[in-house]
Amino acid sequence: MKGLILSGGAGTRLRPITHTAAKQLVPVANKPVLFYGLEAMRAAGITEVGIVVGDTRPEIEEAVGDGSRFGLSVTYLPQEAPLGLAHAVLISESFLGAEPFVMYLGDNLLKEGIGRFVETFRQSAPDALILLQKVADPRSYGIAELNEEGCLARLVEKPAEPRSDLALVGVYLFTRAIFTSVKAITPSARGELEITDAIQHMVDRGLRVEPHVVTGWWKDTGKLEDMLEANRLVLSTIERDVQGDVPETTIEGPVVIGSGSRVERCTVRGPVVIGDGCRISDSFIGPYTSISDGVVVDHAELEHSIVLENSRISHLGARMTDSLVGRDCVIAHNDARPVAYRFLVGDSSQIGIL
Ligand code: DAU
Repeated sequence: MKGLILSGGAGTRLRPITHTAAKQLVPVANKPVLFYGLEAMRAAGITEVGIVVGDTRPEIEEAVGDGSRFGLSVTYLPQEAPLGLAHAVLISESFLGAEPFVMYLGDNLLKEGIGRFVETFRQSAPDALILLQKVADPRSYGIAELNEEGCLARLVEKPAEPRSDLALVGVYLFTRAIFTSVKAITPSARGELEITDAIQHMVDRGLRVEPHVVTGWWKDTGKLEDMLEANRLVLSTIERDVQGDVPETTIEGPVVIGSGSRVERCTVRGPVVIGDGCRISDSFIGPYTSISDGVVVDHAELEHSIVLENSRISHLGARMTDSLVGRDCVIAHNDARPVAYRFLVGDSSQIGIL
């Protein structure tokens, strides 16, 4: 069985972060989302993986390389534009060949991994296996309707008037029968070849598409709130590992501090992960915070936030919470006159002030 990870696309809902970076590389608990998918593939015994890439190919390729450090052999599959999930399957046909495959959306995170589903697929040998989970906002997902026998009746992509709250999780297992369907469908109203339409086409052809409900948590990290929630869920599982120096610092609960970091005169209340080479002083780092490498924090209070590489947060007048701070950002008090807020803010940014 081969793996197909979709890591193209635009990432409009995570702007401005995704103006400059692939959304699949935004870190959750200091590890790019995409890496969780690659590790899940390997853990399920899959070693040959194709990664569908678009404009952000160079940085995806730089981060993943040939896949060997994940125990994988990775092939990059360029998609000329984000023309839909089914289009991504279409362009991957020669890589996938006749083998069944797992398709994994590069911005999805599944607590339990995919091993159980790969095993079920091998044993019950359907034409396709899809994963479902109840969601609170069905308008944001592909939605499945099951009939009274629990069989798949209908799939609709982001319905305006959902008739079910069972969302399609971004992990699908297919036999080569999917290729006939992705070739038969036409673009949707939003101009994409939808995987939901291709799976519906399989159902309409009388093929066996098995739905499985996912019980462990699942997150599509495409939006800020989901990213923070994924960060919270992953951080809930970490264990204490303090490598850096922590003079006059109180550490409570599960806290990871990377090598070369110095955390002084602080309280760090886990779960918290701090990367390598950070300088943190006279601050409070509260639960569910991930701080990437090279970040500087002084005289500030942070919690439930993600801060990316080499940013500086200094002398804040109030606690920073529920935030995603990009790379090389500066958030700092300034003493200049007149007393005023001073911003240099990128496109599509959001700032909440007191
Ligand atoms: O997360 C689950 C949902 O994922 C499903 O419930 C939906 O049925 C499915 O369409 C998908 O919806 P999204 O709106 O979240 O898809 P998104 O455009 O974010 O794309 C998912 C991943 O696939 C993302 O890593 C980008 C990549 N992608 C996307 C498109 C449209 C590609 O590589 N190529 C593409 O053409």
